[in-house]
Amino acid sequence: MNKIYNEHSLNENTIKSLLNTEYIGRDFYFFEEVTSTFNESEKITLQNGTVICAAKQTNGRGRLGRQWQSDKGGIYFSLILTNDIIDSEIQMITSLCAVAIQRAISKYLPCMIKWPNDIVSENGKKLCGILTKLKKTDNRYIVNVGIGINANTEHFDKDLKYATSIYTITGRYIDENELLCSCLKELEYCIDKSNRNNTIEEYKKCSATLGRRVRLLYVNGKESDTGLCTAIENDGTLTVLKDDGTVVNVSSGEVSVRGIYGEQYA
Ligand code: BTN
Repeated sequence: MNKIYNEHSLNENTIKSLLNTEYIGRDFYFFEEVTSTFNESEKITLQNGTVICAAKQTNGRGRLGRQWQSDKGGIYFSLILTNDIIDSEIQMITSLCAVAIQRAISKYLPCMIKWPNDIVSENGKKLCGILTKLKKTDNRYIVNVGIGINANTEHFDKDLKYATSIYTITGRYIDENELLCSCLKELEYCIDKSNRNNTIEEYKKCSATLGRRVRLLYVNGKESDTGLCTAIENDGTLTVLKDDGTVVNVSSGEVSVRGIYGEQYA
């Protein structure tokens, strides 16, 4: 039997006993297996702070139409936010969530935020991805922040060259329940209106992209560009001073970014 099916695996009762938040995850749904937490959230009456969590997804969805490998050993959840969210806040909320997850994962190993919202290890490999989906009803947004963390994941599909897990790097299995509860606690702190300005500053400090040389890979197949990332704007776009001296401003829907560290692409 695979070692990851043990006392460290996600367990609804353990999560509920460890949870020390005020509202995030107080309305908590746990599934051993779902297609995607996004699909599951369609079937549930959602409240502000509802969390839908799964130990495994059979059709996990990632950014730019990609699949998200969601074997047991990872942590997959949707956080629902419904209170007073206005258009200009939506991008920021995803960035605040990225800081929260970076804070939680950094209790296990050093990690940074790669634009737009990936949590990466020191060698630039991806530990966590975040994908936010929106629904507007009666002029009210329902924000569904989908978070996938490679916690105890042991194997990745061959084509996932840039994926890694906490287990792969540290060689130790971690308690998935503790990490999930720590994420929910940090999310509650970072999303709180009174902590937002500081959290945005923290995003910049732990950015693996800002101030670094990057390669922009355009989703539409256009040739790639290289340059220096000079800013992450408030609307979440990335400003890059290209090597040809021109400046481009790109959104997360049109490019993926690779860092260029010496000769290495991470
Ligand atoms: C990315 O491509 O970087 C984003 C990955 C987001 C994965 C999470 S896992 C929970 C939620 N449900 C999904 O199907 N996807 C998101």
